[in-house]
Amino acid sequence: MKLGGIPQNPVEWIGAILGRLPVPLLDTHVAMLLARAVIEGTRLGVFDALAAGPLTAQEIATRCGGEPRATGKLLDALAGCEYLRFGAGRYALTPTSRKWLLADAGQSLRDKMLLLFLEWDFIARTGDFLRTGKPLDFHASLTPEEWGIYQRGMRATVSTWVPEVARRTPVPRGANDFLDIGGSHGLLSAAICRRHPGLRAVILDLPEAVEHAAPLLAREAMGNRVVHRAGDALTDDLGAEAWDVVFVSNLLHHFDDATNRALTKRIARALRPGGVFVIQELFRPSSPGEAGQIGALLDLYFALTSQSGTWTFQEMAGWQREAGLVPRKPVKLVTAPGTGQQAAVKKR
Ligand SMILES: C[S@@+](CC[C@H](N)C(=O)[O-])C[C@H]1O[C@@H](n2cnc3c(N)ncnc32)[C@H](O)[C@@H]1O
Repeated sequence: MKLGGIPQNPVEWIGAILGRLPVPLLDTHVAMLLARAVIEGTRLGVFDALAAGPLTAQEIATRCGGEPRATGKLLDALAGCEYLRFGAGRYALTPTSRKWLLADAGQSLRDKMLLLFLEWDFIARTGDFLRTGKPLDFHASLTPEEWGIYQRGMRATVSTWVPEVARRTPVPRGANDFLDIGGSHGLLSAAICRRHPGLRAVILDLPEAVEHAAPLLAREAMGNRVVHRAGDALTDDLGAEAWDVVFVSNLLHHFDDATNRALTKRIARALRPGGVFVIQELFRPSSPGEAGQIGALLDLYFALTSQSGTWTFQEMAGWQREAGLVPRKPVKLVTAPGTGQQAAVKKR
């Protein structure tokens, strides 16, 4: 999966075939403006304002508290990008905005759009990172309000993956205890526990995260079956032969190789014989030549925002093998482009 210029008429098709499309302009000026229009439309509340039906620009501006002329420009931009439809003097939602951007849509990405507003500023600091090599370490710099935006944004990001993750996460027969390290909102733990009725889960996450993730977990109504534990996976005791599954989703891209090796060893010790360690991660192809857009760009992004980056399945399996686990064949998730699971089993 990748973003790219899509010719829309015969002249553009010919231009594309002849190599005359200004690809860098599409990839930069257009991509930046498109991204910002969708983020700002979400922040202003344009999509939710249209949930009940089409409205004029003036009506939208009044409901959202936007300046009318400026709001009109945004609405036209969103219509040009197929996030809104315009007809008979009114703007309406399109299938894309209705499905993904309404606050109460089943798999709403609205909260991820709000998180992207913060991430925009992180990305603007790429030049400093390239010159100094110093990452942002954003976990250490978030304000309490931003911690809340971060937790809700991550929940929105994975909400579209839930059915597939619940189905494909390997859980040994008769398993009882599931540890979700960096599990935040608990959406994935809850879905996996619903699929495996004998399972109960503990979500270990940083105290600042738990504070804001607690109301999100409460929405899952799992009671004592899925609970938070505030702590630090890098220093807390994970126990010995205490868990049937240890699940780590979207966390190891924040840690460097040595940290992940050490953590994997502690996880291997914490697993019961026959237990499974599941790494769910954005994977990086094994050579830049094979790198897809998503894995490669997010590798740069996580290097900038943490201290690490994305990992190859081979690297993840290497940590597992070194810790005495037996890696399984990696699985690529269909509903989470660029993401996969690298599981490994502890010998009985
Ligand atoms: C990118 S989020 C992933 C959340 C969730 N697992 C998912 O896939 O949507 C990373 C999570 O790891 C947590 N985290 C970061 N460092 C941690 C640490 N040292 N110990 C435990 N959790 C940590 C963050 O607070 C955050 O909730």
